[in-house]
Amino acid sequence: MAHRIVTLPGDGIGPEILAPALEVLRVLGDFEFEEHPFGGAAIDLYGAALTDETLAACRAADAVLLAAVGGPKWDTTDPHAPRPEQGLLGLRKGLGLYANLRPVKPLPALYDASPLRRERIEGTDLLVVRELTGGIYFGEKTRTRDFASDVCAYTREEIERIARVAFNAARAKVTSVDKANVLETSRLWREVVTEVHSREYPHIQLEHVLVDNAAMQLVSAPRHFDTILTENMFGDILSDEAAMITGSIGMLPSASLSAPREPAGSAGFPPEGGRGGGGCGGLFEPVHGSAPDITGRGIANPLAMFLSAALMLRHGLGLESEAAAVESAVERALERGLRTPDLGGEAGTVEATRAVLEHL
Ligand code: IPM
Ligand code: MG
Repeated sequence: MAHRIVTLPGDGIGPEILAPALEVLRVLGDFEFEEHPFGGAAIDLYGAALTDETLAACRAADAVLLAAVGGPKWDTTDPHAPRPEQGLLGLRKGLGLYANLRPVKPLPALYDASPLRRERIEGTDLLVVRELTGGIYFGEKTRTRDFASDVCAYTREEIERIARVAFNAARAKVTSVDKANVLETSRLWREVVTEVHSREYPHIQLEHVLVDNAAMQLVSAPRHFDTILTENMFGDILSDEAAMITGSIGMLPSASLSAPREPAGSAGFPPEGGRGGGGCGGLFEPVHGSAPDITGRGIANPLAMFLSAALMLRHGLGLESEAAAVESAVERALERGLRTPDLGGEAGTVEATRAVLEHL
């Protein structure tokens, strides 16, 4: 039976990188793609970044593949105007996608493309586990002419479930990142993570690091990290920082899941092959944005999009060998010298796609 995928090209370079990703997927299996306008494109058509129809289609799909949203056309500080990002936040919340996984593993072929020195990044292989449906992103907001506030709130249950995702994903160590010296939410975070750890995962090492210090260690000693567990906004910031270890933010994929699959061979939460909540296997998207500055020039790096499709194959559809095939095709294309402009080269989107397809 064909896998039913909702595709959301979004804005800017989104359509330019999503189309080649579908070419890559078509080589690997039987997929039915259903495209919906999303973000700024949907605001232009319907006045809302995420329509009820699109949300319902995403809920009913096996997985959702999203490229990027946003652009100067819809940038505004007017609290009443619709914004493309609201579509993304609505989708995450609407599908209950509380677990955002952002793997950061620089490929040897790109060691010299990173602004960080090779000997510093060599051997880095870390995972950022970002809580995605709570915290300051979703707390109450107020605004008058001279005052504004955003509430940061977390419940014990929200912290417990994301902590379990991190402990399940870790090889040996979880670094829980917070600001417990200042924030009350961080003090609850630290307590709950410590409890989950000692009750359910005593065999995994746990350390607590303050977010400012974690930001420093990410660039000074990235090999120090195995799995970083953190709340929504800290995870947003640290994952962009971590992206530069791979040479370009154009390389980093992400998976947003409601009940992540267990790593092979482990037991416990969540239930075997289980998908909580909606039924949808997750949302898969590059970490980078819509890059309005290079839109329409044919030079967008599609690799983070391809690697996001690989995460969809692995985490959303349970197709591990197909996922690995995409990842190794990307790696081999880079080994043979493929470089888009963000990586210091001259290959365009079409050439990059051809290079990856050749190795698939
Ligand atoms: C990300 C993005 C989004 C976020 C924006 C576009 C709302 O930066 O996925 O990291 O802040 O979560
Ligand atoms: Mg971000």
